[in-house]
Amino acid sequence: MKLYSFEKSEQMLELAKQVFPGGVQASRFQLIYGSSPVYITKGKGSHCWDVDGNEFIDFILSFGPIILGYAYPKVNQAVKRQLEEGVLLTFNPPLQNQLLKKLIEIIPCAEMATLHKTGSEATSASIRIARAFTGKNKVAMCGYHGWHDWCVRGGGTTTVPWERSPIEKTSQVPGVPPSIKQDIYEYDANDLTSLERILVENKDEIAAVIIAPEELVLSPLKQTLQEIKQMTHQHEVVLIFDEIKTGFRISLGGVQEYLGVIPDLTTVSKGMANGFPIAAVVGKKEIMEAFTKTAISGTFNPETIAIIAALTTIEELETFQGPQHFWSLGEKLITGLNNLAENMKIEAEATGWPLAPMPFLRFKYEDLKLREAIRRDFFTRVIRKGILLHPAHNWFISLSHTEKDVEHTLTTCEEALTVAKQAHVKK
Ligand SMILES: Cc1ncc(COP(=O)(O)O)c(C=O)c1O
Repeated sequence: MKLYSFEKSEQMLELAKQVFPGGVQASRFQLIYGSSPVYITKGKGSHCWDVDGNEFIDFILSFGPIILGYAYPKVNQAVKRQLEEGVLLTFNPPLQNQLLKKLIEIIPCAEMATLHKTGSEATSASIRIARAFTGKNKVAMCGYHGWHDWCVRGGGTTTVPWERSPIEKTSQVPGVPPSIKQDIYEYDANDLTSLERILVENKDEIAAVIIAPEELVLSPLKQTLQEIKQMTHQHEVVLIFDEIKTGFRISLGGVQEYLGVIPDLTTVSKGMANGFPIAAVVGKKEIMEAFTKTAISGTFNPETIAIIAALTTIEELETFQGPQHFWSLGEKLITGLNNLAENMKIEAEATGWPLAPMPFLRFKYEDLKLREAIRRDFFTRVIRKGILLHPAHNWFISLSHTEKDVEHTLTTCEEALTVAKQAHVKK
């Protein structure tokens, strides 16, 4: 099979630069300059097609939302029926209550829930609820929780976010007044003493600690989350799990259900409605009720299409045991990649990020130049052979992915590893 090329994508990007600052938003930039698609025209099941006509098995899945597969028939049918009833109605659709009840049934910490449109809105709402409940202002965070002022990091679209240095990531963001960040403290998810220090030094002032489970590499994960919970509760701080990536995927009820560590509040979004825009904050009743004291709203929050898509998506995940499928294929991919690395004597390790349904392959050569060269050649080759594996972000699996998809991916990875090794590792 010929290596794919991306002329049309690149031409379109050049034209787009005249009408959209930077051409496209940073997270949808070309993964590898000159060697990966920028514009996708169609998706069906686990596959998608780019504007140059190249077909891919997609393990990026729009960064997580496509949990059942592209153009999933049951969701599309439910959406078409709902379109005839109206998209956004004055006041509330009864469907909203059905979805709230479903979230409360499946997410362990959920006693009440609110609906939003995006992950950033949900995390911002969760912080506002925690602040309103505790009457305190300060927040401890680590990692990515969206683009809103309180939590945004990095900035600038001239480089791809995952290629920026760590210093750039935490530097002041143009357009965000430093005063907004003065109550936000960043801890290191892999050094819990940094969190302890923040809690002690700001005694009685921290409203919430927010953590996305995929930020943790400290093992065992369960113990780390338990320690974080113990620390926050000792200091009477609201613990928020940002399960925007892990919700509905690691288990229907997220990492908290899988590990049995229950936070006070949780945010979910990706994976909830198979690509339709929706998010939720769920949590303990006494904390969630602070929603009524503060001001959080949105014209589009009760929009019916995303709600029916969410109800149908969750039903399909339940019927076909979605999370079990993600675990099974994730483990197959991880084991297959590790066997390849071992047999081919390549210094690489596949792991879940943090758990098997969100796999990733890390190269471990100590020589940074060598590591980067092999990584780049491997991902370039894999993408140009029709497999969308992200070079710096965990991968996702949908209900439409098959064992055959994984087997074909492993064969392609073997070839790409061979080419990358031959080019860079001396015999
Ligand atoms: C853990 C986490 N929180 C929040 C967000 C922000 O979600 P959105 O991009 O929908 O605003 C993301 C998005 O990637 C995320 O991964």
